[in-house]
Amino acid sequence: MGKDVIIACDFPSAEQTLAFLDRFTGRKPFVKIGMELFYAAGPDIVRQIKSRGHKIFLDLKLHDIPNTVRRAMAVLSNLDVDLVNLHAAGTAEMMKAALDGLTRPDGTRPLLIAVTQLTSTNQEALEHELLIEKPIDEVVMSYAENAKKSGLDGVVCSPLEAEKVHARCGENFLTVTPGVRFADGDRGDQKRVMTPAQAKEIGSDYIVVGRPITQAQDPVAAYERCCREFIG
Ligand code: C5P
Repeated sequence: MGKDVIIACDFPSAEQTLAFLDRFTGRKPFVKIGMELFYAAGPDIVRQIKSRGHKIFLDLKLHDIPNTVRRAMAVLSNLDVDLVNLHAAGTAEMMKAALDGLTRPDGTRPLLIAVTQLTSTNQEALEHELLIEKPIDEVVMSYAENAKKSGLDGVVCSPLEAEKVHARCGENFLTVTPGVRFADGDRGDQKRVMTPAQAKEIGSDYIVVGRPITQAQDPVAAYERCCREFIG
């Protein structure tokens, strides 16, 4: 599996997203479409971006009963996206149903990765709201192992966890890591960050980069810098 930089297209409309992507006249970046854009612009924005030659990570984090997730994943698979995700908290039964729904009649399917614990959830919320008493690191690793056992391809995780996930789940288990900033860049609201070069060093498979590219003066130059530092 080749390393790649995924641009988080966190824009509120199709127009803004397409205007942003118009700048990329050379190499077509791998693009992440999240809830904001998908709920605003619907499946049509996925088809449009795909038809322009981009790979797509559809970041909708499904979490529902297994039958509903199976059926929803079949619809997403028909959209011909490359990477989709769900919450590992939905259990192994839900993750297996998701894989089943994603698999097309010819046996192909988009890659499927799991969110373990959101980085916005801390130990306090885990213990007092979710009533999970184990240390959060242990919970993250256990959910990653459960995703692996269920047949998933990887997890979304902090770059700081990527090495540990590979050690527990194998080198081929994908780590897709947000929280990336240039050494000389603005951190924004991200607290635990790594540079693209550091993410490469610790073995991240894909980095997800939003504002350091989308808000840059020259987004294409920022994307190319990211690729140079991360892929080489
Ligand atoms: O702009 P920035 O580079 O911080 O964007 C990171 C992207 O990755 C956003 O779409 C954000 O929602 C997503 N993400 C994250 N941290 C997680 C999971 C997803 O930043 N733990």
